[in-house]
Amino acid sequence: MGFRLCFPKINISGAGCLAEVPAELVKRGLKRPLIVTDAVLVKAGVVAPLIADLQMADLAPVVFDGVIPNPTVAVVDAAYAAFKNGRCDCVLGVGGGSPIDTAKAVRILSANAGPITLYNGIGKVGKEGAFLVAINTTAGTAAEVTSNAVITDTANAVKMVIIDANIIPDISVNDPKMMVSVPKGTTAATGMDALTHAVEAYVSVGAHPLTDHAALEAIRIIAQYLPRAVANGHDLVAREQMAYGEFIAGLAFNSAGLGLVHAMAHQPGAVKDLPHGVCNAILLPVVEAFNRPHAVKRFARIAEALGVETANLNDEQASHAAIEAIRDLSIKVGIPKGFAELGVTEADLADFVPKALKDPCAGGNPIPATADDVLRLYKQAM
Ligand SMILES: [Fe+2]
Repeated sequence: MGFRLCFPKINISGAGCLAEVPAELVKRGLKRPLIVTDAVLVKAGVVAPLIADLQMADLAPVVFDGVIPNPTVAVVDAAYAAFKNGRCDCVLGVGGGSPIDTAKAVRILSANAGPITLYNGIGKVGKEGAFLVAINTTAGTAAEVTSNAVITDTANAVKMVIIDANIIPDISVNDPKMMVSVPKGTTAATGMDALTHAVEAYVSVGAHPLTDHAALEAIRIIAQYLPRAVANGHDLVAREQMAYGEFIAGLAFNSAGLGLVHAMAHQPGAVKDLPHGVCNAILLPVVEAFNRPHAVKRFARIAEALGVETANLNDEQASHAAIEAIRDLSIKVGIPKGFAELGVTEADLADFVPKALKDPCAGGNPIPATADDVLRLYKQAM
């Protein structure tokens, strides 16, 4: 299969760019947007200016604020009911990955018969569905850029990964002013998620010269600015850089794919309801130490991008230094050391292994892993 570059038709970025959204709806004749978001963002006052702007443009927004972290099939059903009952004609996902992924699921159900579980996997969404704007508030999952939606199927205790170009938002919005109120822990976790996207895309079997440029630049930016954004959330330069870094990491992985870090992170995430970015951050140095011997030159380039002084190191030494630099960054931004701190027990691990091997992200890993490998890596991440 040929290389495919997939991303939104329009990307709007820069401080204050949110104000451009109402006109984009008006010129397409849209009238009743469903805003898909969560109660925390509503309470923090993040959504109110958008509602006011939409009303000023004679639009009639309906708000669904019932999204929870790791959104479930039930959350998707409730959001789609709000879309139908509100007679909405477009969807605005406002938030991090959870609200935007829920908005993508509403888009699917607006044109394709439910339940949403029918669309788990790659390329199963037949019709595009309602016009979708993804307004990002974290840096981040890159959900505003990608063809992925991750929804937890609680009945089967598994994270479904819906992957289809039909769910890429029509417009993605990255306004760093929307990100200044994100708390430290979430800034750190989502920033490490973005780093994971860039690293996994760069060493993926689907990597391409075009995605390599984006991935390495994302690694460079995230290593430089994530500690600043965590230390002071109101540092608008750091927020703007992180918004750009996570965005280009999203462009890279949406076309190059991910790997075993995401495949393994989805499992404790689903069963123990843990933050996606934290699960990735814990697994990233462990899994990349496993991958390192199979991509030594690439890990040496990652070390440079992370800011390691590599002039006096050969590729082998630099590749080891990359793993250490990832671990150091994770500690610096306050990520927990292992899953044991988060309530995962050794008894949980055996159940995670087959699910991780079946996860669609696993296929991008530079080397295939066996069940024994995956179990050993989970144990190392405890
Ligand atoms: Fe991710």
